[in-house]
Amino acid sequence: MNILVVGQGGREHTLVWKLAQCGGVEKVYCAPGNAGTAVDGENVNIAADDLGRLMSFAKHNDIDLTVVGPEVPLVAGIVDEFETHGLKIFGPTKAAARLEGSKAFSKEIMKKAGVPTAASKSFTRLEEAHAYLDALEDVPVVVKADGLAAGKGVHVCKNCTEGKSAATQMLQDDLFGTAGQRIVIEEFLEGHEASILAIVDGDTIIPLETSQDHKRAHDSDLGPNTGGMGAYSPAPLVTDGIMDDIIRRILVPTIHTMRVEGHPFSGVLYAGLMLTQQGPKVIEYNVRFGDPEAQAVLMRLKTDLAQILSLAASGRLAELEGLEWEERPAVCVVMASDGYPGSYSKGQVISGIAEADRQTDTKVFHAGTTDKGLRVLTDGGRVLGVTAMGDSIAAAKQAAYQAVAKITWDGAWNRSDISDKA
Ligand code: AMP
Ligand code: GLY
Repeated sequence: MNILVVGQGGREHTLVWKLAQCGGVEKVYCAPGNAGTAVDGENVNIAADDLGRLMSFAKHNDIDLTVVGPEVPLVAGIVDEFETHGLKIFGPTKAAARLEGSKAFSKEIMKKAGVPTAASKSFTRLEEAHAYLDALEDVPVVVKADGLAAGKGVHVCKNCTEGKSAATQMLQDDLFGTAGQRIVIEEFLEGHEASILAIVDGDTIIPLETSQDHKRAHDSDLGPNTGGMGAYSPAPLVTDGIMDDIIRRILVPTIHTMRVEGHPFSGVLYAGLMLTQQGPKVIEYNVRFGDPEAQAVLMRLKTDLAQILSLAASGRLAELEGLEWEERPAVCVVMASDGYPGSYSKGQVISGIAEADRQTDTKVFHAGTTDKGLRVLTDGGRVLGVTAMGDSIAAAKQAAYQAVAKITWDGAWNRSDISDKA
């Protein structure tokens, strides 16, 4: 089997690495990939949103399965295009990808499905948004751009005044362009966050092991929001009882409602959850693997990933007899460029990756890297996801940070408290 992975981050390197180890897999290509996917697979110089060229590559290179990492091509309809041309691809259709592509659509589905989530209302007119905020007591609110905003479209506001200013920035000042021409204003939820990822084939739902991301840039969850500065799996906060609740009250009704509404969901359903005093509530849905959750979760997966994704893409997940997991936890620490999540420089020479990789049960997943001759250079904000397993979360954390200590470049930094919440 030949596989094409679309994307170029840490999640995609993890997918390439894992898929390349699967039985019956001959070649794993990555478009466009990074310096890590070039080692564990073969890079193809096509951008992740160039649907036409991706399709042509898949046709002419006997690709048996395409796996899409990021949300942008999914929301743009890459699955519909491939399927129209008889190419097998893992991911949701354009209509189903709106669960991530439009927060208003996502909220509508949750409402129809009776899924617990923050109370919310969507607006396109600033005066109406302001009037709504004025009518609320001075409580914290969350203002979200409806469309994709590269993880930056959410403003958590201390009170209505801040909420009004966020609404003005999005609806009037076009802070997020067209993505912010509709906004969703919602209730602020308190609790701990957890990510639940499930593989779905339109019908059958197979939840993966739990994980927790670290969204804020600095230790103790301070600083600006990022794409994610580290993750660990499993998340002990999600007990078996809570997991049952999540499956019964969130995953099943959502997938059922998507089918009833005429947009059966296939791919990864990623539920970003707040574990509140009233039980788990959905903060948002994503329609792909989380990054860096995938690094921590997939490192622990023992079942053949190529088989899982191939069955899911064929609507045959029910044939799978459950998943096997490594009991030991995994911790992923993201190493980032100076300045991230703001502007940062590229092209710094990275050293120590090979030494870190030699450590047992450790893998350095590349995110923003490129190679130049034998050297690996920084090429993004999140540069590496250093991931290790251990007998306990504490041991996995220690191993991950031991590996981090072996890697250097000018301006490298990372959080030092990944997994402490566990
Ligand atoms: P999102 O991009 O939707 O994942 O939101 C980014 C972050 O904002 C989440 O990980 C939460 O920490 C926070 N957030 C989003 N919505 C809410 C909410 N309704 N209540 C509290 N925090 C939220
Ligand atoms: N780690 C958050 C995300 O993938 O959206």
